Amino acid sequence: MEYVTSNQRQVPALGLGTYRLKGEACTEVVSRALKLGYRHIDTAEYYNNQAAIGKALAGTTVDRDELFLTTKVWRNNLEYDDFLQSTRQSLAKLGLETVDLLLIHWPSRSVPMEETIEAMNELQSTGEVNQIGVSNFSVDQLERARTLSDTPILTNQVEYNPYTNQADLLEYCIENEIILTAYSPLAKGKVADDETLATIAKRHGKTPAQVALRWSLQQEQVAAIPKASSPDHLQANLDVFDFELTDAEMTAIFDLQGGLLTKLQRALGL
Ligand SMILES: NC(=O)c1ccc[n+]([C@@H]2O[C@H](COP(=O)([O-])OP(=O)(O)OC[C@H]3O[C@@H](n4cnc5c(N)ncnc54)[C@H](OP(=O)(O)O)[C@@H]3O)[C@@H](O)[C@H]2O)c1
Repeated sequence: MEYVTSNQRQVPALGLGTYRLKGEACTEVVSRALKLGYRHIDTAEYYNNQAAIGKALAGTTVDRDELFLTTKVWRNNLEYDDFLQSTRQSLAKLGLETVDLLLIHWPSRSVPMEETIEAMNELQSTGEVNQIGVSNFSVDQLERARTLSDTPILTNQVEYNPYTNQADLLEYCIENEIILTAYSPLAKGKVADDETLATIAKRHGKTPAQVALRWSLQQEQVAAIPKASSPDHLQANLDVFDFELTDAEMTAIFDLQGGLLTKLQRALGL
């Protein structure tokens, strides 16, 4: 496993996404993932699977301090008191005293950001939350969150895959040592049918999905949280640290975003 660093905290670069996994099936997948070597798990209040993940965490032999567990608060709970209550309910469901990372799932149109950030900082001061972050924030919203918070913003979790251009945000994250956590890094499974990725994959003896993950993880400050439920997919997604894409291959994949050289590619000299 490789790590991405922000705020002197090392985060496993590859995590397990759990959206749409529920109940017993979710517990089984997460337990299997932990056995295979996953140490970073992503959930959310909205996914309705925190208790199922809590069961898997209760049954694992992996040390708590090796695990990196992220959860998120949904947009209807962003007012101060609701936010505290929602987070405490998440902790109870997960069976944890502290969550490693707590995110605002989506920016709010109605609740002032300072109110939510104040609640996050309060949860950090009580030890219920270790690190804080945001999700689906623009560069401007991320900048504002950083200004309002007493503590660093560890990540902005956004959609990032070969079809989604996040060049401006990633540039900002690199400049400020923030992690860009790539959600839907497999474009919800669509990368499996991509011809460009398939051609590159053949050269490396890998699959298109593995190449898509490698492309994400080969970029500075990027972590990825693919969701997988089948045992083969779970294992395949871990096996992306034993090969490297060339600059030409990285460029060919960036080109899937529209064929234009982005500022980021130029900055990377690609
Ligand atoms: N913050 C947010 O607003 C937000 C939004 C969306 C997602 N997320 C997070 O990001 C996670 C991942 O995103 P996602 O679930 O949208 O999609 P994804 O990870 O891009 O794709 C998941 C799909 O890809 C398939 N897959 C997994 N590994 C594969 C492989 N090696 N080869 C071929 N297919 C493979 C899975 O199949 P099987 O399940 O059959 O293995 C599943 O159908 C979510 O689960 C969630 O934790 C966050």
